Amino acid sequence: MNKPSNYENVSIGEFTPVAPGGHHLIIRKVDGLKPGAYHYLPMDHQLEFLHEIENLDETVNESLCGQSWAAKANVLFYWSMVPYRAEWRYGIYAHRVALMDAGHMAENLYLACTGIGLGCCAIGAFQDELCNKMLTLDGEEEFALYVVPVGTVRSCDKAEEQSFYKFVEEEGL
Ligand SMILES: Cc1cc2nc3c(=O)[nH]c(=O)nc-3n(C[C@H](O)[C@H](O)[C@H](O)COP(=O)(O)O)c2cc1C
Repeated sequence: MNKPSNYENVSIGEFTPVAPGGHHLIIRKVDGLKPGAYHYLPMDHQLEFLHEIENLDETVNESLCGQSWAAKANVLFYWSMVPYRAEWRYGIYAHRVALMDAGHMAENLYLACTGIGLGCCAIGAFQDELCNKMLTLDGEEEFALYVVPVGTVRSCDKAEEQSFYKFVEEEGL
């Protein structure tokens, strides 16, 4: 190890298949931001508003195959993949490393959420076609790969979680 990393996060390189265009957010309920589809611009650390989404709540719920608890999140990260960004460099191993990259990104989001007391949940069950349509992706050169909803955690849910851990401990599970 004689060179510092260029990134704060694990990454397969500057042409990572998921960034810079691949960070899509659906904002549902965030103070100061109108609901709709956004892009995260990592180089500028800015959000770019893309468009509104008709029947946002129903559409998001459907896009997550009816997982309504996840669709209620304040904001949902939909990461997309652009395969050629990995293929030119990693050849037949491109898809393997791209999936590892996506996993690392989700883990980083988990760490960030945990650090500021928000809840999040990795989601792999989603409707490809609807997600692509919602984010205006062509579904071939770029397609939805991973969804992570993020939201505030109600105190009653925190209490329920604590009692679950207590139950696990008491039962020696
Ligand atoms: C890549 C990936 C995809 C997942 N997809 C789903 C999903 O679509 N729906 C779901 O309920 N859980 C899914 N999970 C599991 C949840 O993210 C979560 O880890 C799981 O519900 C256990 O959480 P808990 O033990 O805190 O309840 C997925 C996990 C991973 C890592």
